Amino acid sequence: MTVTSVLVFMIQTNLAKRKQVKMAEQQEKLVEVENLVTYFPIFSGILQKKTGEVKAVDDISFFIRKGETLGLVGESGCGKTTAGRSILKLQEPTSGNVFFAGQNLIEMKGEALRKMRSQMQPIFQDPFASLNPRMNAGSIIGEPLEVHNLAKGKEVRKRVEELLNMVGLSPAMAARYPHEFSGGQRQRIGIARALSASPSFIVCDEAVSALDVSIQGQIIKLLMKLGEELNLTYLFISHDLSVVRHISDRVAVMYLGKIVEITTSDNLYKNPKHPYTISLLSAVPIPDPKVDRTRERIVLKGDVPSPINPPSGCPFHTRCQMAVEECKTMKQELKTIDNEHWVACHRV
Ligand SMILES: Nc1ncnc2c1ncn2[C@@H]1O[C@H](COP(=O)(O)OP(=O)(O)O)[C@@H](O)[C@H]1O
Ligand SMILES: [Mg+2]
Repeated sequence: MTVTSVLVFMIQTNLAKRKQVKMAEQQEKLVEVENLVTYFPIFSGILQKKTGEVKAVDDISFFIRKGETLGLVGESGCGKTTAGRSILKLQEPTSGNVFFAGQNLIEMKGEALRKMRSQMQPIFQDPFASLNPRMNAGSIIGEPLEVHNLAKGKEVRKRVEELLNMVGLSPAMAARYPHEFSGGQRQRIGIARALSASPSFIVCDEAVSALDVSIQGQIIKLLMKLGEELNLTYLFISHDLSVVRHISDRVAVMYLGKIVEITTSDNLYKNPKHPYTISLLSAVPIPDPKVDRTRERIVLKGDVPSPINPPSGCPFHTRCQMAVEECKTMKQELKTIDNEHWVACHRV
């Protein structure tokens, strides 16, 4: 063997090994949600007695693999935000478990939880809604570093500069105040803040919903690029299926606190199975007008029922075109119908 052929062989085996590691990593589950339930109690009367509860998240289970983007879609009020907040433990769940890198967040407290928190960050629709308007962009981005004791003084300033560059803004912008930025720029600052403590898991909750379509595209591209570069894992929440489609590897569809279908992004758009997913998709325009014209539009009957008193059996039966008598009583569980495709409908 010549020296070159040995070298080529070494490089090839090294590449193959790296590929294997990458694949194994992708199989590894970073987040595992197990029977998560979050109910909000309703109190009424002068004695403020508990008279009911809003079943915002009603027994959901799923996982997110390392480096993957899982989309979470559904109409407004179906429990997406509550699910995201419960997973990050920003909202105390009623029951269930959330494992992050194998550790159960629900059982964690104090310092251990605080440490774990720096690993997971949210990005909201309006990153400034809960922040002091008198903080400049630099302090907004640098704050998590100080909260988690990760850097001080000069180090923070250096990291803020680096983060501004990463999100496509100029380091000089650190001195500016929130009102001086456009919507897209504000969201870039929100992303920089979320990334400052070098998390591995990000929950984006309607992160681009308030932006113009062209700006939405830019922010989604930025999130995808950063995801790739920093090996981030995303839970990407949106009521807008056309937004979720671009960024997600897999998509979970939620209805009245439950997940009704989970599959790969491709599969969901080409081969949706749950009647709710099918009706949601029928409302999403297809770029090709010829295909779009021939499609059947399914208009959902009535409003989403109240999560205080959800329908018995399958929660979707009151609006479902395929519903039969059994659907009123039969509880639906997610069942696998194919590799990477789970549906909660006994009619499928
Ligand atoms: N803090 C709260 N207290 C009481 N009810 C809430 C609270 N937060 C959300 N809800 C209710 O829980 C349900 C799910 O809300 P949410 O998670 O915000 O849904 P989505 O994000 O899908 O629009 C809704 O009926 C909402 O009114
Ligand atoms: Mg929401």
